[in-house]
Amino acid sequence: MTSVKTMTPIFALSLVFAMPVWAEDLLEPVDQADLNALVQEGQMLDAFLDAFEAGDALTETQFTQQQGVGANIGEGRIFTRFPRADLDGPTEWANHYPQREGGANAISCIACHNAPFANGAGGIALNVVVDPAHTGDPSLYLERNTLPLFALGVTQRLAEEISEALFAQREAARSEACQNGSAAVGLSAKGVSYGTLFVTRIAAAPCEVAFDYSALKGVDEDLVVRAFGWKGNHATIREFTRNAAHNELGLQAVELVGDQDGDYDGVIDELSVGDMTALTIYMAGLERPVSSVELADLGLIDLSPAARARITAGEAHFVQVGCATCHTPEMTLNDPIFSEPSTVPGFYDASFPDGSWPAEHGLAPQTAIRFDLAGDQPNNVIATTDGEVHLGALQRNADGQAVAQWYTDFRRHDIGAAMADPADPLGIGAAMFLTRPLAGVGATGPWLHDGRATTLHDAMMLHGGDAKLSQEAYAALSKEHQQELIAFLESLTLYQDPHADED
Ligand code: HEC
Ligand code: HEC
Repeated sequence: MTSVKTMTPIFALSLVFAMPVWAEDLLEPVDQADLNALVQEGQMLDAFLDAFEAGDALTETQFTQQQGVGANIGEGRIFTRFPRADLDGPTEWANHYPQREGGANAISCIACHNAPFANGAGGIALNVVVDPAHTGDPSLYLERNTLPLFALGVTQRLAEEISEALFAQREAARSEACQNGSAAVGLSAKGVSYGTLFVTRIAAAPCEVAFDYSALKGVDEDLVVRAFGWKGNHATIREFTRNAAHNELGLQAVELVGDQDGDYDGVIDELSVGDMTALTIYMAGLERPVSSVELADLGLIDLSPAARARITAGEAHFVQVGCATCHTPEMTLNDPIFSEPSTVPGFYDASFPDGSWPAEHGLAPQTAIRFDLAGDQPNNVIATTDGEVHLGALQRNADGQAVAQWYTDFRRHDIGAAMADPADPLGIGAAMFLTRPLAGVGATGPWLHDGRATTLHDAMMLHGGDAKLSQEAYAALSKEHQQELIAFLESLTLYQDPHADED
C-alpha cells in the first residue's frame, strides 16, 4: 500500500488563507479519471494533493447561478434562509428531489464554515433552519449551528474501526448462538461500550438466528457508527457533503440526481463525481485541531506557567466530574490510512443515490486515493530548528498507532428534554445527539446544536438527560475549579500556520 511521506512545497502556497474565489477562476470540474490515472501510475501523493487542492478551491468558490448554485424556490427566488413547504408548485421548493430539508442558503461552503477562519464553525447568523418532513410549521423547524470541517478523515476512520470491531463481535455472537442456542454479548470498541446484543437460534441446520437490538446503546442496529452531523446520522464525509451541496448551496451532484435537474434551476451536472471526491479528500485531510499546550511547546504561542497549571488542573476536573465518560479523551487508530472510497461496509456507496454504480464513474477500490492521517496532511507543517513538525497530522504512540484526542465516544446520548429538538423527523429521538467531539471546541463557539450556549460555562450547564449527574457535579465545583475546567476546554483549539504562504 502506498502511503505518502513527504509534501511538495508548492502546495503549501495555496492552502492557508481562504480568500473567496469567484467561480470564473475555477477551470473545469474535477475528472475522477485524472485522479485515477495518477493512482495507477503510482503517484499516490500527487493524487492526494491534487484532490486536496481542488477540494480547497471548491469549498472557497463563490458559485454563480449559471453554474447551478441556488434552486427554484418559487416567487422568483433562488435562495431562502427558511424552509418553504408552502411553495409547492410543480417546480418549486416543496417538489425538488431529493426532498429539500432547507435552503438554498448560500453561494459557497465557507460562507458558513468560516469561524475563526476558513473551514471552521459559524456564528448564529449562519445557523441553518431545516424542515425535513415539510411540515410548513415553524414551531417544528430544526435549528442547526455550523460545525467545523477540520480533519474529518480522523472522525470517519475512528468510526470505521469501531464499526469493524462491532461487526466482528456480532459474528462471534452469531456463532455462539448457533452452538449454544442463544448468546448475550456486550459490544465494545476502543474502550467504549455500545450496549448488549442478544441472539437466539431459530433454526438449527442450517443455523439461523434472530438478533434483539433493544439493548444497543447510542449506535444504529446495523452497527455502522454515524459520526457526522449533530444528530450523528451520516456515516461518511461524502454522503454528508452530497446533502450539504444540495440543501445549502443548491448544487446537485451528478451522483445524487444523474443528469436530472432536481431543483429546476435550469442547470444539470452541477458537481462531478471527481468534485465530490475532491471535497471529501480535502475535508478528510485538513489539519487537525490542536491544544494550546502543544502550540506553546513548539514556541508558537506564549503560555505562562500559571496558565499551563490551570489547564492541567482543569483537565483533572473534566475527568473527575464525569465529562470523560462521554467525551472520551483519546482513542487510537490501528490503521490511520484514510481511503476514498472506503472498503469498510457501511462507509462506501454500494450504489449512488441516483441508482448508478460508483465504478461506472471510475470510483472504485482499486483506484482509491489513500493518505496517512498520521503524516500526509499538507497544512500546518511547522518549520522548527530541529526540522519540520507535521502539526496537522496525528501523532503516533510507542506502538506505532495514531493517537486522536477527539473527546467523543461516538455514541448518541439523551441530552435532556430542555435541549430536545421540537420534532423528530428522522426517528432518532428528539433529545438524542452525538457526543460532540471537543477537539477544537475552544475556537468553535457559540456552542450546542442550535448555538444557544454563548459561553462554555453555559454549554456545560445546559447538559441534562444522560449528562445530568455530570452537569450537577460541574455546577457543584468551586468557581475557581469551574474556571480551570473552562481554561482546559479553551486550550482545545484550532491553529493555522500564519507563515505557511511565506515558505
Ligand atoms: C448555510 C450554511 C452552510 C453552508 C453554506 C454549508 N454548510 Fe456545512 N454545515 C452547516 C451546518 C449548520 C452544519 C451542521 C448540520 C447538522 O448537523 O445537521 C454543517 C455540517 C457540515 C459537515 C459535517 C461536519 C461534522 O463533523 O459532522 C460537513 C462535512 C459540511 N458541513 C460540509 C459542507 C460543504 C462541503 C459545504 C459546501 C458544499 C457546506 N458544508 C456548506 C452549515 C453550512
Ligand atoms: C452523557 C454524555 C455526556 C456527558 C457526561 C457530557 N457531555 Fe458534553 N455533550 C454531550 C452531547 C450529546 C453533546 C451534544 C449536544 C448538542 O448536540 O447540542 C455535548 C456537547 C458538549 C459541548 C458543546 C460542543 C460544541 O461544539 O458545541 C461541550 C463544550 C461539552 N459537551 C462539554 C462537556 C463537559 C465539560 C462535560 C462535563 C461537565 C460534558 N460535556 C459532559 C454528551 C455529554
